[in-house]
Amino acid sequence: MINIRTKEEIEIMRRSNRLVAQVLGKLKEAIGPGVTTKELDQLAERLIKESRATPAFKGYRGYPATLCVSVNEEVVHGIPGSRKLREGDIVSLDLGVYLNGYYGDAAITVPVGKVSQKATELLKITEQALYKGIEQARAGNRLFDISHAIQSWVESFGFSVVRDFVGHGIGRNLHEEPQIPNFGPPHQGPRLEPGMVLAIEPMINAGGWEVKVLKDGWTVVTADGSLSAHFEHTIAITDGRADILSLP
Ligand code: MF3
Ligand code: CO
Repeated sequence: MINIRTKEEIEIMRRSNRLVAQVLGKLKEAIGPGVTTKELDQLAERLIKESRATPAFKGYRGYPATLCVSVNEEVVHGIPGSRKLREGDIVSLDLGVYLNGYYGDAAITVPVGKVSQKATELLKITEQALYKGIEQARAGNRLFDISHAIQSWVESFGFSVVRDFVGHGIGRNLHEEPQIPNFGPPHQGPRLEPGMVLAIEPMINAGGWEVKVLKDGWTVVTADGSLSAHFEHTIAITDGRADILSLP
C-alpha cells in the first residue's frame, strides 16, 4: 500500500526535506581539497542538531554515521572517515533527517575543484535524469514512467543505471512502499495519485551497471571501477507538476 499524505502532512515533510537541502548546501560549500569525509559528517550532524532534528541514517540497520559520502567509484553508502578529498574527485553526499514525525531524504554529487570532462558529463546527465524522472511523477501516470524516463535519458549517453538499489516512498518511515527502480518499462506499475511522497534517486555509472559491496558491509562500488554519481529529491505528487520538497 502506498501512503497518501494530507496537505498538512506534506507541509511538515517540506520542513524535514528543506532542512536536508539546506544542510547539503552548506556541505557543498565546505567541500574542497584536504577536507576529510568525517569533517563533512560532523558538520552535517551539528547543523541537524542545531535545528532540533535527528539524523535519520545513524543507527539505521546499524549504519554508523549521519551522512553517506561516496567518492568517485563509490556508488552509495560510503562511510565517512579519515579520507581527504582531492582535486578531481566527485563526491556524493546523501543525507536523511527526522523532524516532527516525518523523514526527509536527498542527495547531491559535487566536484572537488576541477574534474575531468567525463566526470562533468556524468554529473550533468545524472542530475538531468533525476529531473526527467520528476517530470513523469504526475497523477495519472504510472510509477515506471518515472523509471523509464530516467533509464532512457541515461542510456542515450552511454551511461548505465544501477540495478541493485532503488528509490522509495518516504513519510513516517525512511523507506516506505513503493520501491522506485531507475529502470523499467513505461506505462506499468501502480498509478500515481496526489498525496504520494516519493524519494527518486538515480545512481548512474560511467561504465557498467554492476556493483559490489566492500568488506565494511556498506560501501557500494562499481564492479569495473568506473565513476558513479547520485542525485536524489523527495517529491509529492499533486494535481499538476510534482512538488519538490527537498529545496532549500
Ligand atoms: N539515502 C539512502 C536511501 O535513500 C539511505 C542510506 S541507507 C543508511 O535509501 F543506512 F545509510 F541509512
Ligand atoms: Co533515499
